[in-house]
Amino acid sequence: MKITAPKKPIAELAADVVVLGLYENGPLSAAATEFNRATGGLLERLLGRDDVSGKRYQMTTLLAPPGIAAPQAILIGLGERAKLDAGVAFRAAAAAAKAASAKSRKQVAFFLDDGTWPAPLHEQGIAGILFGSEGQDLYRAEKKQFPFGEAIWSGADKSALATGAILGESVNLARHLVNEPPQELYPESFAEHAVAIAKECGLSCEVWDQKRLEKERCGSLLAVARGSSRPPRLVILRHNGSAKKGPLLALVGKGVTFDSGGLSLKPSDSMLTMKMDMSGAAAVLGAMHAIAKLKLPIQVVGLMGLVENMTGPAAYKLGDVLTARNGRTIEVHNTDAEGRLVLADVLCVAVEQKPAKIIDLATLTGACVVALGLDVAGLMTNDAAWCETISAAATRVGEPAWQLPMFPEFGEQIKSEVADIKNVGEGRWGGAITAAKFLEEFVNGTPWTHLDIAGPAFAEKPKPWIGGGGTGCFVRTLVEVARHWK
Ligand code: BES
Ligand code: MN
Ligand code: ZN
Repeated sequence: MKITAPKKPIAELAADVVVLGLYENGPLSAAATEFNRATGGLLERLLGRDDVSGKRYQMTTLLAPPGIAAPQAILIGLGERAKLDAGVAFRAAAAAAKAASAKSRKQVAFFLDDGTWPAPLHEQGIAGILFGSEGQDLYRAEKKQFPFGEAIWSGADKSALATGAILGESVNLARHLVNEPPQELYPESFAEHAVAIAKECGLSCEVWDQKRLEKERCGSLLAVARGSSRPPRLVILRHNGSAKKGPLLALVGKGVTFDSGGLSLKPSDSMLTMKMDMSGAAAVLGAMHAIAKLKLPIQVVGLMGLVENMTGPAAYKLGDVLTARNGRTIEVHNTDAEGRLVLADVLCVAVEQKPAKIIDLATLTGACVVALGLDVAGLMTNDAAWCETISAAATRVGEPAWQLPMFPEFGEQIKSEVADIKNVGEGRWGGAITAAKFLEEFVNGTPWTHLDIAGPAFAEKPKPWIGGGGTGCFVRTLVEVARHWK
């Protein structure tokens, strides 16, 4: 989608739709004042009668507004001026874009800025346009949403326009992969996407196939893959953005392209959306794409562990004892706790790259969704300062995340009678944390933060700013962390 700056004021702009931002309890922005003047005081009348309030995400469509060149205007509420942040900018722009995208449009113009917006709000708002106008109807003859030919955004400089577009594209890249059905997206085809994207944006890319994974002793990841006819892959992407070697940032993603649960089979209802179990890997790929396109002057490595968790004749079994790459032995108590087994080996490979710090992202546990709900990611760490850095970045871009404790007692629960550790805790209580304690066994003391995105990775129901499906969550946070990486 082309993103440009407006060449005319809001009243004279002959776009298909103009979108106007309104604050709760005023004041009117310059664009709103101009709109009000051109329409002979229409805005003031609507606001005065409380038909329009400026409350967050409240949307009103005006058809053929008098004195306005565009045939349609959408008024979008931004909430109170003092509470506006980048997350509101993102979601408000996305909500308006989603509404406008119900029909095919050549041009849609956005006037949300009141002349005071700093660059980060512009960037996230522009990203919101690309996000909101893209749907999940990849395989419908009759589309529900149509990305615009051109989006016009008011108030941003060239660099913010370009950055916002890269952010939006990268989030959509992750969403697209999540939305692809498992029949199309499996470890091999995910790896092919990664290779193509790496080539397009200038990342170096290494793919480990089954044979290489065997040679590299990734016994934990390989065990999960055994039940599937689709062989596993490990993808390693590298961004070398600076000539002199700075500290390396490692991003690690869970890429279970379909999670049937294995022999500990999931009930049908829980299995339905399990094409989304590769959302962590998709977020890593989306973030690496953005980091490369933004040419950030840093060193980043992105690792994606790709497997399908199935029940084929060679499937790994309860009671099996696996040996991970670092030599740790793992007793399998539940084949549906497969994500941690995949990440165990991938984290080992990450540690060998000698990163200064690691972030992993995984749709790891239903327990995290029980704890924090569908919209909030769980943060778990072995390094308080590193966790705080990520939490602050998430807050800045408006992605909710909340830290869960990593008390040593939780680690006691994964001790095994026959092996070093087992792959589940005692009972299901605190399941998000026992899973994180398992992962901690494989980071070898490297500062590390784990994001459990089981809740926010997939929207089962539509929201004002998303039609449903993959959300591309935490791509924006990862990029924000990378932009502040020293
Ligand atoms: N992929 C699931 C976690 C999940 C659940 C993601 C719901 C998104 C929505 C994971 O592999 C899993 O099955 N975890 C088990 C762990 C348990 C067996 C210890 C779970 O949460 O039930
Ligand atoms: Mn599972
Ligand atoms: Zn899973």
